[in-house]
Parts: sequence; C-alpha cells; structure tokens
Amino acid sequence: MADLKKPELPTGEQKVKAVTSMFDAIAPRYDLVNRVMTFGMDRGWRRLTVDRLELADGSLVFDVACGTGDLCKQLRKSRLRAVGFDMSSGMLEAAHTTAPLVLADGLNLPVADGSADGVTCGFALRNVESLPKLFTEFSRVLRPGGRVSLLEVAEPRSPIIKMGHHFYFHKVVPVIGGLISDRSAYSYLPRSTAYLPPPDRLLEMLGESGFTNIERKVLGMGAAQLITGTRA
Ligand SMILES: C[S@@+](CC[C@H](N)C(=O)[O-])C[C@H]1O[C@@H](n2cnc3c(N)ncnc32)[C@H](O)[C@@H]1O
Repeated sequence: MADLKKPELPTGEQKVKAVTSMFDAIAPRYDLVNRVMTFGMDRGWRRLTVDRLELADGSLVFDVACGTGDLCKQLRKSRLRAVGFDMSSGMLEAAHTTAPLVLADGLNLPVADGSADGVTCGFALRNVESLPKLFTEFSRVLRPGGRVSLLEVAEPRSPIIKMGHHFYFHKVVPVIGGLISDRSAYSYLPRSTAYLPPPDRLLEMLGESGFTNIERKVLGMGAAQLITGTRA
C-alpha cells in the first residue's frame, strides 16, 4: 500500500494498482468499518439509492464497483435482478450476496451495449482512474431510458458542519479504521475525496456522457450525495 501513504494522491495506472491492492487488503473488515464509520446510516442511503432507480420488478441492474455486495443485496430485496462488478478479487471473496459477481474493470465492463435497465455505484466514484470514462461506460451499457443511481461521500456546505465533518472524517475515521482494520487505508479514504469534482461539474460530466433528468440529493447533513439520471 506504499503509494497511498504518500502525501500526493496517485493517478493513472499507479492509482488503479494502489486502489486494487488497498481494497484487497481491507476487504475482510470492510463492512464492519463501514457500519461503525457511518453509524449505520449507509443502510438507509443504500435503500434510497435503489429506490431512486424507480425501475419495475425484475429489471436488470449492474452494480459497478460492488465491493462486498451491500447494494446488490438491497437490489435483490427490492425485487430487481442484480449483477455486481468489481476489480478487487479480495472484495468479491468477502462478499455476502447471492447476486452473481464478476471480476471486471468498471471502465470496461464485459457486457453488451444497452444490456442493463439500471446502474448503481456506491462510494466508488473517487476510486476510479477516470470519471468521464466511467460515465461513458454507464451510458454504453444502459438501454435508452435506463437509470443510473450513484451514491458517494460529499463535503457539507455549512461552515460549522463542515468543520465537524472534516475533523471526524480526517482525524477520527483513520483511528477507527486503524483499530479495526488498516490505518493507512482509512487515512487515504478521506483524502481521496480530493479526486471528486465539485457537485456542479460532476452533474455536468454525467450530462456530457448522455444522461438527462440529472438530480442530486444531499444526505447525512451533507456528508453524502446521491446522484440520479436517465440514459437519453
Ligand atoms: C469504497 S468501496 C465501495 C464498495 C461498495 N460499492 C459499497 O458501496 O460498499 C470502492 C470499490 O470500488 C472498487 N473499484 C474501484 N475502481 C474500480 C474499477 N475501475 N472497476 C471496478 N471496481 C472498482 C474497489 O475495488 C472497491 O471495491
């Protein structure tokens, strides 16, 4: 995990390698840290992520960067057909879903054009090597009218909440992560928010990749965001 300890964040192929090996390493305790770190709030956010797809029962949804499969589980609970894709074999081995899982790069999914009714992606936008490439791939695999629902961390706007959130995310989370799992990984994860473009630009990028009806909802007092859109 050497790359992730450096003050500057890795890019390109270095980022891909560093992110994959980090998730391979933290996979066994990933779910536990997630629950503790978000005070269990991520469960409600995931429900909303799936609800906002607004798809009919039996629709096929690709959960890209599925990790240990929390969103796949929620998709199945909501009577949707889920297939998970992730590039970390460690995360897939630690997964706890009955949905089919595929080891694959989200920027190059091994599926036909227009084959999905929906795409979900949870807490992974900041981990990919290129967001425009990811959004273009979402657009390729979705049928026209298909829906995308993207859950990601965010920065609160209110200065007071922002200060508290910054302290919690950058100082407390690495300690919790260090106690339960790996400190350097949970120091990197808050720092990796720097990869995320500002909200307006994020929505613009989605529009440039062929999506319409783009909406952004702030969750957890600004600590998370849910972005939805429809494939034109
Ligand atoms: C923070 S975890 C989120 C996992 C899961 N979606 C969740 O909501 O808990 C980020 C995941 O993105 C995966 N990932 C990052 N870049 C990827 C890519 N290009 N293709 C597929 N998976 C990727 C990592 O392996 C990791 O499992």
